[in-house]
Amino acid sequence: MKKIQILFNNLLKCKSPQELIDEGSQSGLKKTLNVFDLIIIGIGAVVGTGIFTIIGSAIVGSSDGAGAGAAIVVSMILAAIASLFSALSYSEIAAMIPVAGSAYTYTYATMGEFMAWMVGWILMLEYAIGNITVASAWTGYFVQLLKGFKHILPDFVVNCPLWLRNDYRTMYEICARNGWDVHDKMPFLQLPFGLEIPFAINIPAITIVLILTLLLIKGIKESTKVATIMVGVNMFIILSFILVGAFYVKPENWMPFAPNGIEGIFTGAFVIFFAYIGFDAISTAAEETKNPQRDLPIAILGTLVLCTILYIMAALVLTGVVPFSAIDTQAPLAHAMRYLNINWYAGLISVGALCALTSVLLIYQLGTTRILFAMSRDNFLPKKLNAIHPKFKTPHLLTWVSGLVVIICALFMDLNISAELCNFGTFTSFIIICIAVLILRKTEPDRERPFKVPFCPWFPILGILTCLSLMYCKFSAKATSAVYFIIWLAVGLLIYAFYSYKQKRKEDSGLL
Ligand code: ALA
Repeated sequence: MKKIQILFNNLLKCKSPQELIDEGSQSGLKKTLNVFDLIIIGIGAVVGTGIFTIIGSAIVGSSDGAGAGAAIVVSMILAAIASLFSALSYSEIAAMIPVAGSAYTYTYATMGEFMAWMVGWILMLEYAIGNITVASAWTGYFVQLLKGFKHILPDFVVNCPLWLRNDYRTMYEICARNGWDVHDKMPFLQLPFGLEIPFAINIPAITIVLILTLLLIKGIKESTKVATIMVGVNMFIILSFILVGAFYVKPENWMPFAPNGIEGIFTGAFVIFFAYIGFDAISTAAEETKNPQRDLPIAILGTLVLCTILYIMAALVLTGVVPFSAIDTQAPLAHAMRYLNINWYAGLISVGALCALTSVLLIYQLGTTRILFAMSRDNFLPKKLNAIHPKFKTPHLLTWVSGLVVIICALFMDLNISAELCNFGTFTSFIIICIAVLILRKTEPDRERPFKVPFCPWFPILGILTCLSLMYCKFSAKATSAVYFIIWLAVGLLIYAFYSYKQKRKEDSGLL
């Protein structure tokens, strides 16, 4: 009986917010970021696959459900409201405990050691697995761009074999869809076989992840400089799409406004939620922010509002320019320009999309590294991984770990599965953040809160309910990603039981 009590005490051991803040101040990370840098990180993490690719299926629908049609703007507002409750909660805690690690750190301060580990593990779904989705989408746009240069580039570059630009699963699916046998000797297949198993490697995705890993090791300031350029280019492209497209809008294309009724609007909201993921990445850079108490809430809420306005305008133009039945699901914005016969502009949109996806990749990898940094500082992972580069002052070993995870998983995970797993991770972390606000209001009522969630406890409770209902949709549909999510949780539990729990007890006895 006593053993069980000791076990529970250990699992529920919390770190006090003060302890976290003190540790954070000794991390050795450079404090260089201002509110502008943070908003760039926010927009860079949010604007990407969602607005450039996923918006098409949110409007038109897919085999999984009906689309919203022109009522996508209502879906976007719904997704923004769901994100807003969590953004407010993130703002309150990030300003109160401005340390690296995001939801992981906040859970440690409120729900104890075991939940903290599980949340850190779940956040890897949002950041590292989400990056696999974006890296795959990056390859798609890169291949599109190469096709635009088919008169200059050699044919083997423009039409490189499928196995060099896809993961293993996608390659199999493409072959199945087209009725090709993977053993065929067609020039665009030419699969190499190892141990009788066909092999595929997504070269563009892996190359871009490698380049960004090196950039992140060089330094966060350098990385945000690159992100600033990328965000500048993609903002310019989206804004000019809105301005140019506005002249071609035909209001009759908005009718019927909601072709699939309420069901279409809600399905659209679920799908387009992916476009809002990312503002929480701002809180992972808290320890590198000059004035976190003031700047974190401004940056988190500012990013969400800016992106919502931008998305709604882009959606109005897209649905106003192209009739519902003609909207493309692969590259909808570029296709809209081709629909208007402005082909050169379609190419420019591919460049904007590549910039947007690159900045999402960069910032997600930054987020993965900073969460792993906080977890190994707490001895859940080997402390050696925490080494700071003597010259660049960045956690270089962890940056390599996060890059390699994406590279290895990108060999066999496809875009859809990784996107849905990413959504599961995000919903769970949003729920945890809302719960953390409620707990901290009880346990630390007197701690200074530079920002407070209004209408507490109602707003955090609404945040929890919205995320739970969206997750329930996928569970009730028995989606493959829901099964993978449960497997992911089970693996996390085993690592905790057989490694991290023991490490934490060594830490308690002063052996670490
Ligand atoms: N919100 C990010 C995107 O759309 C994840 O790519």
